[in-house]
Amino acid sequence: MDKEQPNLLDGVCEEYSINPIAIWFMRQAGRYLPEYRDLRSRSRGFLDLCYTPELSSKVTLQPIERFDLDLAILFSDILVIPDALGQKVSFVDGEGPKLDSFIKFREGYEFNEEQYLKNLKPVYDAVKLIKTRLRNTKPLIGFSGAPWTLATYMVEEASSRNFSKIFKLIESDLTSFEELMDILKKAVVSHLISQAKAGADILQIFDSWAGALPDQEIEKWVIEPTASIVDQVRSFYPSIPIIGFPKGIGLNYVNYVKRTKVDGISLDSSVSVKWAAENIPANCTIQGNLDPNLLVAGGKEMIKAAEEIVISLRERSHIFNLGHGITPSTPTENVAVLVNEVRNLGQRYR
Ligand code: CP3
Repeated sequence: MDKEQPNLLDGVCEEYSINPIAIWFMRQAGRYLPEYRDLRSRSRGFLDLCYTPELSSKVTLQPIERFDLDLAILFSDILVIPDALGQKVSFVDGEGPKLDSFIKFREGYEFNEEQYLKNLKPVYDAVKLIKTRLRNTKPLIGFSGAPWTLATYMVEEASSRNFSKIFKLIESDLTSFEELMDILKKAVVSHLISQAKAGADILQIFDSWAGALPDQEIEKWVIEPTASIVDQVRSFYPSIPIIGFPKGIGLNYVNYVKRTKVDGISLDSSVSVKWAAENIPANCTIQGNLDPNLLVAGGKEMIKAAEEIVISLRERSHIFNLGHGITPSTPTENVAVLVNEVRNLGQRYR
């Protein structure tokens, strides 16, 4: 990455007059919000919220209206990709996602981009509607799952603890796995470009299960595919900032940033921000990384941890966030207190 190049995320924050420290939360729209639970209970299901632009737009704006956060993130899910590819996804309350048979899906499957984008049209319509409703007051983040994380859901057909099916597939039928990763690379590029085309200002790539891979496999299944995706998106949209979130990869965060050339890196809570401040290349924005459990607990511990993060990153381009998504048991009061605190810290340290 060229050191002289201006950081694209700083550019967007400046364009939208966000300062001094931008703040948003992963899963900022969700079950911890009473207004979300209300809308969700009257809906026909989680995916219906994702595929109905009016509802997706409403939910996207809920946390913005309540907390005046600096950035909005499209309300959708990473699993709309397998769903749109033809491996149907459903969400059973309290059980998480369930996907149709992977074996059936793979039988003679070919990627049909036209059909895929048709299936995802409601998502792009939601992006357009949200952009209209935001009236250019805040940037909108679009997103996608990364190929590895999407592949784990597709092969395991649900959330997994031990990833036994996908590791077995890699060992017994590498060609099939590589074919799946190739389809997913195309699907992710196409989904991200379509969100940019619809008006998304920033893109984030979630690789939530990157940390399940041994070190030597992270290069092959996390870094290489992401580098290729970033490259391809940039060939269409050279100035849209891209944030990577390869959760749980520890020291490999440095290599990930260097090789993928993302504009921002979202850190999980296990990473020391002091270490990150010294080791992540200087032109990459650091996003993160308060432990979501501290937001549930609130109080002095939360404030102290937030201050430590802000101080450690005061010399860096920094977007305040959590190390992972907000959990359903988070009290909304704690979120309001934290947002206020980060605003004060921004005044004091920036
Ligand atoms: O951040 C936001 O507010 C935007 C919306 C968003 C959701 N999911 C909404 C959601 C985003 C960016 C995601 C990403 C996502 N989805 C990831 C990557 C980030 C991460 O958390 O690691 C993953 C792995 C998923 C897959 C997924 N979606 C799971 C495993 C589950 C079930 C677990 C759960 O929390 O119930 C979901 C459902 C989901 N996605 C909900 C929300 C608000 C809860 C749905 C509901 O019951 O109302």
